Amino acid sequence: MISFSIDGQPVEGKEDAHILEVALDAGIEIPHLCYNESVKPYGACRLCLVEVTRKGRSKMTTSCNYPIMEGIEVFTGTEKVLRARRMIIELLLSMCPGDKLLQEMAAGMGVREVRFKKEEEKDCILCGLCARVCDEVVGAHAIQFASRGDRREMIPPFGEEAMNCIACGACVVVCPVNVIGMKEEGDERTILRWKRTLKMKSCKVCGNYFAPWFQLDKFKEKAKLPKDFYDVCYTCRS
Ligand code: SF4
Ligand code: FES
Repeated sequence: MISFSIDGQPVEGKEDAHILEVALDAGIEIPHLCYNESVKPYGACRLCLVEVTRKGRSKMTTSCNYPIMEGIEVFTGTEKVLRARRMIIELLLSMCPGDKLLQEMAAGMGVREVRFKKEEEKDCILCGLCARVCDEVVGAHAIQFASRGDRREMIPPFGEEAMNCIACGACVVVCPVNVIGMKEEGDERTILRWKRTLKMKSCKVCGNYFAPWFQLDKFKEKAKLPKDFYDVCYTCRS
């Protein structure tokens, strides 16, 4: 275990841990949006900034991807950190002005107005969480970042229907600003942002549609399950 301090409080974490996860485990809140414990940290939203002092030198860094080290001192609420964090939340709000979570976070940080031009046509904050979950947890690799700078966006390959998407909805759940969207109508499920519509399978027992055929076939193939494994839905099986 590695020992260090956060805001003067002694904490401990495993060798490969990062500051944010140790802080959250210890009940110390650091604002964050693109961190999710099920995927590798990426440092995209920059909201989790902290100040770290090591060997007498101090620097600002994102805490979700900063590896813990023996004896470092971490400060989560210095004036420098709070100022930078307010600027970041303003920038994020300008990318996704209508989002309630961002609005609440901004209000909590004392941000009363957004000085940056609102990008009305944009809503994604480019946190990359949807693609990381799709790659690292689901294994579907259906979406990716495209372009650079102002034109950077998260899209399916070539901006067309995401042909690898199994419509599991994991991206919909993890998106911190809720801009992906899923709809179910009759026997179809659509992941709106990735323009992916798949036919769903109905349960042999209750008759309800419960998951897309494409998704179930992929799971069966991967886990080498018998052909009839998903004939009955999860509810009727339990
Ligand atoms: S769609 Fe949502 S999860 Fe994906 S990059 Fe944009 S904000 Fe992040
Ligand atoms: S949570 Fe650390 S950069 Fe987003």
